Parts: sequence; C-alpha cells; structure tokens
Amino acid sequence: MELTDKVAVVTGASSGLGRHFSEQLIDRGAQVFGLARSTDTLSALREDLGAAFHPVTCDVRDEDDVATAFDTVVDARGRIDVLINNAGLAQFGPVDEQSTEAWDVQQETNVRGVFLCTRAAVPTMKQQNADEGFGGHIVNIASIAGLLGNPNISAYNASKFAVRGFSEATMKELREDGIKVSCVYPGSIATNFFDVAGVDMTDNPLQPEDVAQTVLHLIEMPNNHLISEVVMRPLRPRG
Ligand SMILES: NC(=O)c1ccc[n+]([C@@H]2O[C@H](COP(=O)([O-])OP(=O)(O)OC[C@H]3O[C@@H](n4cnc5c(N)ncnc54)[C@H](OP(=O)(O)O)[C@@H]3O)[C@@H](O)[C@H]2O)c1
Repeated sequence: MELTDKVAVVTGASSGLGRHFSEQLIDRGAQVFGLARSTDTLSALREDLGAAFHPVTCDVRDEDDVATAFDTVVDARGRIDVLINNAGLAQFGPVDEQSTEAWDVQQETNVRGVFLCTRAAVPTMKQQNADEGFGGHIVNIASIAGLLGNPNISAYNASKFAVRGFSEATMKELREDGIKVSCVYPGSIATNFFDVAGVDMTDNPLQPEDVAQTVLHLIEMPNNHLISEVVMRPLRPRG
C-alpha cells in the first residue's frame, strides 16, 4: 500500500512502539488517529508530530469508547486503510500469585481490545474493497510470548497465544474481502513495557524504531502480497 493520504488507526499510540508507528506512518504521508487512555500524553504527541496526528482518548477494553473512536475516524476522513492493534500490557508473576485483576486486565486489553477494534474497522474496510478493490491492512502486535510459553508470564502468554489464533482466523476470513491481517511476534523491545510488567528489561532488546520499520515494510508491500506472520528477535539477547 502506498501510504500518502491514507488513514491509519494506531492503538496504544501514547508510548513505546505506538509512538514510532505513528511517526513513521506520518513520515510517509498518512493521517494517523492515535488511540490511548492518556489524553495529556496524546496531546503532547500532537505537538511533536503535527496536524497529521489526531489524538483520540480511548480505552480499548471499553466497547462504547471503541465504537465512538472509530466513528470519529470515519466521520473525519471517511475511510480506514490501516489498523495497528498495538495497545497491550503485561503483569508478570508466578501463577499462584497472579490476582484476578491482573489476569483480567491482560486478557481485556490484549485480546478483547484487539477484537473490539478489528470489529469496528472491518465494515469500513469491506466497503473500500467493494468500491476500490482493496480493503486495507490490519496488523496485530503479539509477541514471542504468543509462540512460546515461559515461567512467570502465563497470563500474558495466554493473551498473546489468543492474539495468534484470532489473527490466523481473521487472516483467512478477511483476505476474501481484500483485507490483509498480519501478526507480528517481537522479542523484548526497549519501551516502558517492562515498568508496567514489573520486571527489569533484558540486556539487549530490540529498538522500537526497528520494529516499526519492519511493520511499515509489511504495510507497504503490493496489495496482492500478504506477509501474514513475522518473528523478530535481537541477535544476542543477553548482550
Ligand atoms: N516491549 C516489549 O518487550 C514487547 C515485546 C513484544 C510485544 N510487545 C507488545 O507491543 C505492544 C506495545 O507495547 P510497548 O512495548 O510499546 O509498551 P508501552 O510503551 O508500555 O506502550 C503500551 C501502550 O498501550 C497503551 N494502552 C495500555 N492499555 C490500554 C487500554 N486499555 N486502552 C488503550 N491503550 C492502552 C498505553 O497507553 P495508555 O497507558 O495511555 O492507555 C501505551 O500507549 C503491546 O501489545 C506489547 O504486548 C512489547
């Protein structure tokens, strides 16, 4: 997809990877609607990225918030070409010490949020396919934790394995409607993620701008070329 004047929705735009996705999409001429809960951080980001960044306060766990956010995008621009389902978090710990609240916030943000945003974007993308012969591209940000189980991350593992299943199913379902679905599985990335997860960052993480560059590459491939899955790892994880 050629991104000039295209419309992208990035969830979790206020920080880390989402900020880099927004920046790189705008660099290529797209309009970006950035969703997150932190209104002040989104407003500061608009100061940095300029008028092509449109802040939208939205909790992706909340059905009404998501519906309102996607109505805002379509009312403003009349289309959605790219959706990056990036909002997500982890709260690590032994399974017998995980609170129900910690379990729920990971499943609700990482899985329910991906479902709600996908469901909200697909009708507009299907209409674009009917009108123009191509619907758009949905990229789900899973994790290596969507492929490999490991100690003390069981709730996060469960949520990202779910994202993998949802991505594979929707990829096969929606390609018939001219809509691409890709799922990416990065290893550790240098963002605020580890502060929220409650653990130290690994010694040699991936850089968020490099992960964003890979995702932009997927999106910029020709319309008939669907890269459905990508795994990304640092070369020497322990430095
Ligand atoms: N960093 C890593 O090592 C790593 C590795 C593999 C995959 N990932 C995945 O990459 C994605 C981005 O994480 P990151 O590393 O960029 O972490 P981050 O810097 O902590 O950013 C997380 C983003 O998600 C948003 N968010 C959290 N809950 C939300 C909610 N309920 N509604 C809307 N937005 C919400 C946050 O914004 P607000 O707080 O303002 O809502 C923030 O913008 C996540 O899905 C994560 O699982 C990260």
